[in-house]
Amino acid sequence: MRLPSPSWTLWSTTFLLSSPTAAFHAPLRTRQLDTSFDWTAITPTPDLQYHDCYNNAFKCARLQVPLDWSKVTNTTNTTVAAGPHAAIAIVLLPATVPVSDPTYGGPILINPGGPGGSGTQMAMSAGAVMQGLLDVPGTRHYDILGFDPRGMALTTPSASCYGRQFDRAADWLRRAGLPSVGTELGLKMGFEMSKGWAGLCAQTAAAGGEESAFRHSSTASVARDMLEIVDRMHELNIKEGLSVGGGGKNGTGTACGEKPRLQYLGFSYGSHLGNTFASMFPGRVGRMAVDGIVDGDDYTSGAWAKNVNDGEAAVDNFYRTCFEADSACPLRESGDTSFADISARVHALLLTLQQSPVSAIYNNRVYLVTSFLVSESIRTSLYAPIAKYEGLAHTLAEALTGNFTRILSDPTVMAIDTRDATCTEPAAADPPQDYNFANEASINVICGDSQASAGTRDLAWAETTVARITNQSASIGEGWTKLPLSCSNWAFSPPYAFSGPFGSPAPNRNNSSNTPSAPLLILSTRIDHATPLANAYALSRLHGGSAVVVQESVGHCALLSSTSQCVYGIVREYFHSGTVPANGTVCAADCVPGIPFKACPGLTGF
Ligand SMILES: *[C@@H]1O[C@H](CO)[C@@H](O)[C@H](O)[C@H]1NC(C)=O
Ligand SMILES: *[C@@H]1O[C@H](CO)[C@@H](O)[C@H](O)[C@H]1NC(C)=O
Ligand SMILES: *[C@@H]1O[C@H](CO)[C@@H](O)[C@H](O)[C@H]1NC(C)=O
Ligand SMILES: *[C@@H]1O[C@H](CO)[C@@H](O)[C@H](O)[C@H]1NC(C)=O
Ligand SMILES: *[C@@H]1O[C@H](CO)[C@@H](O)[C@H](O)[C@H]1NC(C)=O
Ligand SMILES: *[C@@H]1O[C@H](CO)[C@@H](O)[C@H](O)[C@H]1NC(C)=O
Ligand SMILES: *[C@@H]1O[C@H](CO)[C@@H](O)[C@H](O)[C@H]1NC(C)=O
Ligand SMILES: *[C@@H]1O[C@H](CO)[C@@H](O)[C@H](O)[C@H]1NC(C)=O
Repeated sequence: MRLPSPSWTLWSTTFLLSSPTAAFHAPLRTRQLDTSFDWTAITPTPDLQYHDCYNNAFKCARLQVPLDWSKVTNTTNTTVAAGPHAAIAIVLLPATVPVSDPTYGGPILINPGGPGGSGTQMAMSAGAVMQGLLDVPGTRHYDILGFDPRGMALTTPSASCYGRQFDRAADWLRRAGLPSVGTELGLKMGFEMSKGWAGLCAQTAAAGGEESAFRHSSTASVARDMLEIVDRMHELNIKEGLSVGGGGKNGTGTACGEKPRLQYLGFSYGSHLGNTFASMFPGRVGRMAVDGIVDGDDYTSGAWAKNVNDGEAAVDNFYRTCFEADSACPLRESGDTSFADISARVHALLLTLQQSPVSAIYNNRVYLVTSFLVSESIRTSLYAPIAKYEGLAHTLAEALTGNFTRILSDPTVMAIDTRDATCTEPAAADPPQDYNFANEASINVICGDSQASAGTRDLAWAETTVARITNQSASIGEGWTKLPLSCSNWAFSPPYAFSGPFGSPAPNRNNSSNTPSAPLLILSTRIDHATPLANAYALSRLHGGSAVVVQESVGHCALLSSTSQCVYGIVREYFHSGTVPANGTVCAADCVPGIPFKACPGLTGF
């Protein structure tokens, strides 16, 4: 695997934006956008027009699509759509061969998850690594195509609920300091605060009128946008000399004379985007590899019953690692006889803070620390065990002594970078220069997707939902409950939506226009605290011929949590030939997390 930069730079906290309310995010989410390219200089067009960008290493485009796909009646000419448009931001890392080369393999679209994650930023930070992983030198060379889904990052209009970062940060801090949802008053306050927050988004959206992103950011709309990207990219490639009868290359999934097909690699929530695409447009699937699996029915129902199921198993892996590290783990005490002793101390701290919050001073501000922040510190660390176990051990050891500095200074936990929040703001640009509204963009998709089937989201619903999730995982459930709570009082129901039935038939060459040209390749780690392995098997049951590959590791997404030459080989072969290994194939991980930190050569976490 080719590495563009020292392995661990992608994990450095300055590049991390992650947020307790952003659900299945892949850990890498940039906040500060690279402003060396001026996106405002591109006029969105209904055909794909690329512009050299970012030191000419990439090509950038803004694809104009109808904001409301449900209004498009003539699917052969989408530009006649009535109403306003969205401009989808695209960053392409071109294949290492020209489009006319017989080994050109077409574009692979990527999605980093979230929802809320930026595909353009992922293409820039990880495109070269992905190309190195997927290309078969001399035989097959792919473009890596990252796009920002509706409402996010450089795609416009933006799903931002706030005009000023100062207000966003103030509200986030107020919510973070509420009493724990594990208490009766805390539940009521959390529910009310969430209602108010949804109301604020509705107010902002109303001011945006018809053009607002809030009504039209369903996962179905994004899937339809992906189809548009595939079609327009193919159109452009034909112009640029794509050979083989205009049908794409033999082996990339698109046969001669067929409509072009999607090639896709999606992480985390990106698995749900893939599932949605395959279910809506099975005959347009060429290759689809998904990693870290969301349960589509559970997600669209708004129940959130299939996420933190393996949360305690994941946390126990951390305690076990700490216990085995002996005195190298600051959280272990000399009298401990098993990892359960360590676990018991942390649980006792969580219970104490739930009932009796404490104040802490950090950076000239007073914070109230409840169980929420400690639980979030654990939850956010579990995404990337190799990178984060050592830090988590220090954080919890200090928290047990009453020192919460590490938590309060951790931008991954504190979601909003409160240090940046000043009263004066830079002038708004379109597209924006700063992606500080990822939370809002995330919740916009999540709540919209479950709006039709969620039923009444009143206090009784909140109580049941919170009880279910915190019962599944006492250590990390509390932070997760912010997600469903944020959907109480959500005002928007996207007209273009898809909530099932999920599934696709097995490939069938006799009837290829209705079937994928390759079955789905489904990846998961053994223990994933956000998207449990059981979801991978459930997805496989719905997609004919698909196969699950289990990587023996702990963490979120196989490709993000450890290197595995076994998994890399399977993924490369899948994109090349469309073949999947036996369903249930198990791959060893090449690295295990350690305390102290042990590097995993080649792991970028993408
Ligand atoms: C749809 O658009 C195509 C391409 O512009 C056109 O040929 C066709 O007549 C249109 N169909 C309808 C029903 O308007
Ligand atoms: C699609 O419709 C637009 C607007 O009516 C028209 O200008 C354009 O030529 C049509 N495109 C095709 C391919 O027919
Ligand atoms: C194209 O694919 C078919 C089916 O897999 C195979 O039989 C054929 O040899 C391939 N042709 C080329 C030129 O690779
Ligand atoms: C709290 O921990 C931080 C390191 O995370 C350290 O710099 C600081 O001195 C500690 N505070 C106290 C009062 O021990
Ligand atoms: C809590 O979890 C246990 C064990 O999984 C289950 O039996 C029980 O019904 C759950 N309680 C609630 C309130 O969900
Ligand atoms: C496809 O057609 C061939 C020839 O008619 C037949 O033998 C084969 O069983 C069919 N395959 C499927 C999957 O239907
Ligand atoms: C092809 O698939 C369609 C839709 O799934 C089905 O209606 C049709 O009967 C199939 N045709 C053949 C020849 O199997
Ligand atoms: C893959 O294996 C799982 C677990 O045994 C099973 O539930 C699923 O149906 C299998 N997938 C396919 C496509 O047969």
